[in-house]
Amino acid sequence: MDIQSHKGAYSAKFRIGALAALKDELQPDMHIVMDRRIAELYRDDLGPVLDHPSLLLLDASEETKMLEKFPAYVEHLVARKIRRNHLLVAIGGGVIQDTVCFLAATLLRGVPWRFYPTTLLAQADSCIGSKSSINCGDAKNILGTFTPPNEIFIDVSLLDTLDERDVRSGIGEMLKVHAIDGPEAFDRIAASYEDILADKQAMQRFVRHALEIKKGYIEIDEFDRGPRNIFNYGHSFGHAIEAATDFAIPHGLAVTIGMDMANFVSAGKGFTPRATFERMHPVLRRNYRGYEDHDIPLDRMLAAIAKDKKNIGDSLVLILPDADAKLQRREVANDGEFRDLCAEYLAGKRAS
Ligand SMILES: NC(=O)c1ccc[n+]([C@@H]2O[C@H](COP(=O)([O-])OP(=O)(O)OC[C@H]3O[C@@H](n4cnc5c(N)ncnc54)[C@H](O)[C@@H]3O)[C@@H](O)[C@H]2O)c1
Repeated sequence: MDIQSHKGAYSAKFRIGALAALKDELQPDMHIVMDRRIAELYRDDLGPVLDHPSLLLLDASEETKMLEKFPAYVEHLVARKIRRNHLLVAIGGGVIQDTVCFLAATLLRGVPWRFYPTTLLAQADSCIGSKSSINCGDAKNILGTFTPPNEIFIDVSLLDTLDERDVRSGIGEMLKVHAIDGPEAFDRIAASYEDILADKQAMQRFVRHALEIKKGYIEIDEFDRGPRNIFNYGHSFGHAIEAATDFAIPHGLAVTIGMDMANFVSAGKGFTPRATFERMHPVLRRNYRGYEDHDIPLDRMLAAIAKDKKNIGDSLVLILPDADAKLQRREVANDGEFRDLCAEYLAGKRAS
């Protein structure tokens, strides 16, 4: 698949064994940044990659993509004499992607990069679209750039070692992308939910479809000024839930709760029929199982959503379903009614 961007076209190739093949392509002008867990799990496949003189192993945690951590990364790369014509190679999920993408955008004012996404979330969603998102202080994803990689290699065999909860985190973003495509696409993926969990081929079909849907938006609105905004569905709530729970809930599962909450709030405000919430709730709830009763402190969640980078003035800017269950960008007052709806959802509706 080729994706057009402001830096020209870049490719996302599905290739089993792509990561293992990297050892045959190693060059001294590569700088490899890898999830430490991948280095441990795929030691045999990686072989000499793990002895490369410029290798940085990082934990896949929200701490890793804090701005405060970047001086150490820069020092590491400068000590290994990185130059603008070198290649940064990212191997991991969304955390490694965000970290390397931000380095690629800013170090020496731009270094090319290549991405091997290793999580379902990164393979089905975040690997395309150019965004880097970095945390600073307690503000999640508050800094960022639009910096596409030169190429992406999607090796679905890497997903075999993912924890089930990280698989569901990826499915959360896939449910979001299909919801953006419309109610029929959402109902189709919802009906195939168990197949996706059980059958790699079914999963790969929906991964491809999710990327095709996203490609259609990012090629017309790479910089997220218009139509692409609806990809934030579930994210204003999701990021606030992550912040309020100190990131105890994986990103894609917080987004899954966020979509459910967006539907509930939209129905409560009369923007969409209650049936929109009822129709989507069973599969969303199934996807965030294990977190139905996880404590999400209301005040912390509301304080975090008030800081969302999409807000205008004191209004929240949310992506909510409309009368036809189509997703629309809306300005919503952060008032008592909004608070009561959030409280009602968190107190019981999530688990019902
Ligand atoms: N830039 C974007 O467009 C974008 C989009 C969505 C999400 N994000 C960000 O991505 C992050 C979440 O990323 P993620 O869900 O991909 O997870 P992650 O990078 O946090 O990894 C999740 C867990 O899976 C492990 N892991 C990774 N690959 C594995 C494999 N093949 N086998 C076994 N374990 C493996 C990691 O070590 C970690 O424990 C969040 O910080 C989120 O904000 C960015």
